[in-house]
Amino acid sequence: MTKKIILDLDTGIDDALALAYALGSPELELIGVTGTYGNVLVETGTRNVLALLELFGRPDVPVYAGIPHASTKDSFEVLPVSEFIHGKNGVGEAELPEPQGQIQETGAVDFLIDSVKEHGDDLVIIPTGPSTTIAAAIEKDPSFAENAHIIMMGGALTVPGNVSPWAEANVNQDPDATDAVFRNAKDVTMIGLDVTLQTLLTYEETRTWHDLGTTGGDFLGVATDYYIKSYETNSPHLGGCGLHDPLAVAVAADPSLVTTLDINLKVDTGGETRGRTIGDETRLNDPVKTAHVAVGVDVERFLGEFMERLTSLAENTDLRQ
Ligand code: BDR
Ligand code: CA
Repeated sequence: MTKKIILDLDTGIDDALALAYALGSPELELIGVTGTYGNVLVETGTRNVLALLELFGRPDVPVYAGIPHASTKDSFEVLPVSEFIHGKNGVGEAELPEPQGQIQETGAVDFLIDSVKEHGDDLVIIPTGPSTTIAAAIEKDPSFAENAHIIMMGGALTVPGNVSPWAEANVNQDPDATDAVFRNAKDVTMIGLDVTLQTLLTYEETRTWHDLGTTGGDFLGVATDYYIKSYETNSPHLGGCGLHDPLAVAVAADPSLVTTLDINLKVDTGGETRGRTIGDETRLNDPVKTAHVAVGVDVERFLGEFMERLTSLAENTDLRQ
């Protein structure tokens, strides 16, 4: 039986890899993609998603636009560090043809609320960018928080952040929104830097994609090489790039890839630790734990699944001209 999923992406190189992982996973049925700001503007990210769905032969998947800026702000500009990591076009300057498809007229918030109502426990929502759109769905319809199953990429519990000693990039964009998710949603699995900085990809693996001689292989190779290069500058000690967003999708397909800690979470929304994901002291003794933080990962098994799924997806795209 397949599991229905919705991806909420700020596409973004590793978001693109997460989308490819979903499309390459027979256990997962992608019923829609919602686009948030973050690595890019909403318009750039949703355009990338439409183009990638066409590249990988899935133009049937509907794409919805989410909220274009943080809940506490009225506009958004791409941070220089995001542009450095993901490129101006969000996908490492890899070329993607102008998509034929259009964004849906329904907004992402309503699509998310309606989908949870329709599919209930058969659906998993996978946000891999700022939490703004998910928090807006919670605010608009409390039954969403009650019934949604969420596996999110974001946060850091046992390791420092990646934009400050406290904050991880997705949470940092809208700490109040992630805090609202943690305080209200009844089932959130957090795939944070604790595990995603253990799952690293190198030029050795991207060579496989360049060698396929297909448009899909070329895209994956060029975009991921750009991403690896940024890690060589920003985090040379790692020896590869972090597969943040694809790991969240992999966990939706196979939860046994990670070990989790059950806990009630909050986000610090003020002071110098703004953006920190940490246990909520006011719910410490609550027997019901609403969050499950991944603290261990089977790196070898995940990397094997990752390469197998993305390579066979890319193999089946058009030959390079
Ligand atoms: C997260 O931040 C974004 O830049 C990545 O796409 C990922 O979702 C990692 O901190
Ligand atoms: Ca992302």
